[in-house]
Amino acid sequence: MSSIRPILCVVGARPNFMKIAPIMRAFAAAEIPALLLHTGQHYDADMNDAFFRDLGIPHPDINLEVGSGTHAQQTAEIMRRVEPVLDQHQPAAILVVGDVNSTIACALVAAKKGVPVIHVEAGLRSRDRTMPEEINRVLTDQISDLLFTTERSALDNLKQEGIDPERVHFVGNVMIDTLHYNLRQAMPASDTLKAQGLDAGLIDSPAGYALLTLHRPSNVDDRTVLTGITDCINRIARDLPIIFPIHPRTRGRLMEFGLLDTLDPRRVLCTPPLGYLQLLGLMREARLVLTDSGGIQEETTALGIPCITLRHNTERPITVTEGTNTLVGNQPEAIMGAVTQALAQPAKSGRIPEYWDGKAAERIAAVLKGWSPDRT
Ligand code: UD1
Repeated sequence: MSSIRPILCVVGARPNFMKIAPIMRAFAAAEIPALLLHTGQHYDADMNDAFFRDLGIPHPDINLEVGSGTHAQQTAEIMRRVEPVLDQHQPAAILVVGDVNSTIACALVAAKKGVPVIHVEAGLRSRDRTMPEEINRVLTDQISDLLFTTERSALDNLKQEGIDPERVHFVGNVMIDTLHYNLRQAMPASDTLKAQGLDAGLIDSPAGYALLTLHRPSNVDDRTVLTGITDCINRIARDLPIIFPIHPRTRGRLMEFGLLDTLDPRRVLCTPPLGYLQLLGLMREARLVLTDSGGIQEETTALGIPCITLRHNTERPITVTEGTNTLVGNQPEAIMGAVTQALAQPAKSGRIPEYWDGKAAERIAAVLKGWSPDRT
């Protein structure tokens, strides 16, 4: 890119922070001018500030401070507030990552104003349109000028949707760039538990522990489903202690449904959402990870830790075909069956997917150096 106008890089929610950190670093190294815009979708200290600190992300140049709301309210508010920012800064392009509401909201405003859109982590598809993120992915890709993918299957998805393959670049996974960059600083699991005032002795045994994260509406918003999962947590914890950092949405639902107090406090160690270096340390040392997060499916594959995903589908199929991930859905028998199998047999061994090598952001910067944003 020859223009000295900046690229406006967007973050909004927790999984965006891990993706933007290496991009901002690579842009600085390649002398690509960039501004960082935070929509404010996530705002709590433990959902936000801790990540900026742990990941060394520069302080945002602009913060839209939108906060929470329904999908329509949140998306609309971001759109309304980002428009004058584009007018003021006249960026050469806008760069969005992932699939959260901030991603589609900013991309849509930019596309309609003729500002080129760059989408990092394009082409992932769960084919489950009940997931808000799937809607965000499909729409963002349709209006993007330049699309960077994390795995080769993404190009097939994009081609099926009529996207010109010339716009697509397979660069690897920026989230794994962040993992490589920070692995040595990851906090030991026992230190994290002690910092939370919890009994670190519980994870001392050779059996180890399981790490659990949950936040998908399909798992936590339905009383019956969440009751079934909570029951599984207690049953698994009899054999294997569980560390459970609880997302604000999940904590709210557990309290609303009267389930939080049913978790056995001697075997299930609940914490608030944790910082990146803490969670990375807990993942690295875990015997098993149970999750419904997209990012954790990838991070466990990169770390070689067995992952049981409480979803019926994944937009990241390489974590199953090449990595350590197993999809089990959210029914108790299926979850219990998968855990029993994972503990009884040698763990599912995987290999590291192509280009998950810590250099994805550098590849993105290299493409952008030679890119002309002119629309043809
Ligand atoms: C969002 C993303 C999801 C991502 C997840 C990671 C969308 C559609 N979803 O889901 O893809 O995996 O972030 O966390 O963008 N809340 C707080 N403090 C905060 C932020 C949220 O308490 O800092 C509470 C609020 O009650 C809010 C609820 O969490 O209503 C949900 O937040 P929201 O950003 O709407 O969605 P997430 O479930 O976090």
